[in-house]
Amino acid sequence: MYIMKTRMLRNIEVSAVGMGCMAFSHGYGKIPAEEYSIEAIRNAYTHGCTFFDTAEVYSPNLSGIGHNEKIVGKALKDVRKDVVIATKLFLRITPFEDVYKAMRSHLEASCERLQTDYVDLYYLHRMGSIPVEKIAEAMGRLIDEGMIRGWGLSQVDVPIIERAQKVRPLSAVQNIYSMVERDSEESIIPFCMENNIGFVPFSPIASGLLSGKITAETKFEKNDDVRNRVPQLSKANIAGNQPIVDLLRNFAEKKNATPAQISLAWMLHKYPNVVPIPGSKNKERIIENLNAADIILSEEEFTSLETELNRHPVYGHRGLGGFWRS
Ligand SMILES: NC(=O)c1ccc[n+]([C@@H]2O[C@H](COP(=O)([O-])OP(=O)(O)OC[C@H]3O[C@@H](n4cnc5c(N)ncnc54)[C@H](OP(=O)(O)O)[C@@H]3O)[C@@H](O)[C@H]2O)c1
Repeated sequence: MYIMKTRMLRNIEVSAVGMGCMAFSHGYGKIPAEEYSIEAIRNAYTHGCTFFDTAEVYSPNLSGIGHNEKIVGKALKDVRKDVVIATKLFLRITPFEDVYKAMRSHLEASCERLQTDYVDLYYLHRMGSIPVEKIAEAMGRLIDEGMIRGWGLSQVDVPIIERAQKVRPLSAVQNIYSMVERDSEESIIPFCMENNIGFVPFSPIASGLLSGKITAETKFEKNDDVRNRVPQLSKANIAGNQPIVDLLRNFAEKKNATPAQISLAWMLHKYPNVVPIPGSKNKERIIENLNAADIILSEEEFTSLETELNRHPVYGHRGLGGFWRS
């Protein structure tokens, strides 16, 4: 069993690179057979990964609930106490409903699918019309009751984080973040650092762009494949973003690594509170991504990578208001 470096999401210790499990159920075309997905998750654990990300809405075509949580639950049930499971609830209620009761019933259903009696990190997947203070208060009750160890928000900006933090400190914020989606650098990541909040980048490999494996000729799948809508992955923008991919490729050659690994090592070097959750439905690539935790960039290497990166415009932008629910 391999031991990976760890980081803290406030009170929760996790491997420095986590694993996004979404694609076993949704978002990147055809899903693998369940046995394959379970084995891929178990392999990641054996390889030192202790941080697994799912959500109640991750199901084929986002229709139905809990497909992904069930897979994660089956894969990790024997090692439950040794791993951190993060899941997300999607709350749509009327102003007359009791926020805590609604959230508790979502959480109980997630726990059942995950074959556990607690969730380590419970995120609100998207802000809806419920004031964040009410969400924070309900999350606080769930923490006090021992049903969750910490809570988080996803795709949020500083004013919302600040309001939530005043009611019940957050363990983590999960936003889109990669070398080509850097909105969170301006104030969100610094705010999280100052307030001891972990920052968990989703789509850290820009949905595959930063692996260097996608070209303008790559055909995405027709069904349930978000890459058809990722702006950096339009034919024209893949070509426009090529200098960034080339930069990564050159760097990777020198470091005996892969472009995807360098893009992850870059963010790990840049911020001590960042824990990326790359997603893949391929066993080998999952391990490749986890191994990024072992790639050390010197200060000089980081500065040269960052300086070069800053020189290239990014074509296509999803931003915090991004297009997807997942
Ligand atoms: N909070 C939110 O709203 C939200 C939104 C989206 C995602 N998420 C979470 O974040 C996780 C990661 O995000 P993501 O999956 O959208 O984006 P990602 O990790 O940036 O990219 C996933 C894509 O990149 C490819 N890829 C990954 N590693 C690779 C490598 N080393 N070499 C070549 N290709 C590679 C994958 O293909 P293969 O499968 O073929 O390897 C897949 O097509 C998800 O699993 C989910 O848990 C959260």
